[in-house]
Amino acid sequence: KCRAVVLISGSGSNLQTFLDAAANAECEYAVEAVISNKADAYGLTRAQNAGVSTEVLSHKDFADRDSFDRAMVKLIDSYEPDLVILAGFMRILTPDFVRHYSGRLLNIHPSLLPKYQGLHTHKRALEAGDDEHGATVHFVTEELDGGPPILQAAVPIETGDTPELLAQRVLVQEHKIYPQVAQWFAQGRLRMVGDRAEFDGELLPRSGLR
Ligand code: GAR
Repeated sequence: KCRAVVLISGSGSNLQTFLDAAANAECEYAVEAVISNKADAYGLTRAQNAGVSTEVLSHKDFADRDSFDRAMVKLIDSYEPDLVILAGFMRILTPDFVRHYSGRLLNIHPSLLPKYQGLHTHKRALEAGDDEHGATVHFVTEELDGGPPILQAAVPIETGDTPELLAQRVLVQEHKIYPQVAQWFAQGRLRMVGDRAEFDGELLPRSGLR
C-alpha cells in the first residue's frame, strides 16, 4: 500500500475523508501519520479516533522557516512516506522542502487555480462577481499555489452568497476530489512531469481535469 502522511493546521475535514477512505479495503493508500503545526488542531483528534499516529511540530519553536522545515522533513521521513498530503496546512514551505518531496507532494486549494492564489479566496471570488468558484488539487512546486493542477471541482455562486456559505459548498466538493486524487496517485496513475501533471500516461490540460 501507498504510505501517506497528512499535514494539517486546523479542522481536518479533508483529513477525515482520507481516514474514512483508508478504512475501505479498496483504498490503495494508508494514512501512516498526521502532523500538525498547531497543538489544538481538531484534525489531531480525528486522527486519534481513527487510530492513526499524530505529531505536533510548532513553527513557533523554531528560529526561522528553514529550521522548521528541516525538522518537518526529518519527522515526515521517519514515516517513510510515498505521498505527502497537505490538507489545510497553512504554512508556506521552503524550496528545499518542496524539492525533497517533488512529485509526491499534493495540496488542495480553495479556488479554481490559477485564479485566487493565496488567502481569502471565497471573499475574492464573490467580490470579483464571478459566477463560479471551486477547488483544485495540485502537485506542489516552489511556486506558491502554482504547481500543476490535477483535478478541479466547480460550484456555482448564488445570489446572497457569503464567503462562509460559499466555503461550505466548496468544502463538499473538496471532500470528493481530494481522496480521488490520492487514490489515483496510490494506483500509480498520476505523475508530475516537469511543470505538468500526467494521468494514465497522458499530459493533463494546464488547468487539470474537471
Ligand atoms: C480547505 O478549504 C482547504 O482547501 C484550505 O483550507 C481548508 C482546510 O479545511 N486550504 C488552503 O487554504 C491552503 N492554502 P479542513 O482543515 O477542514 O480540511
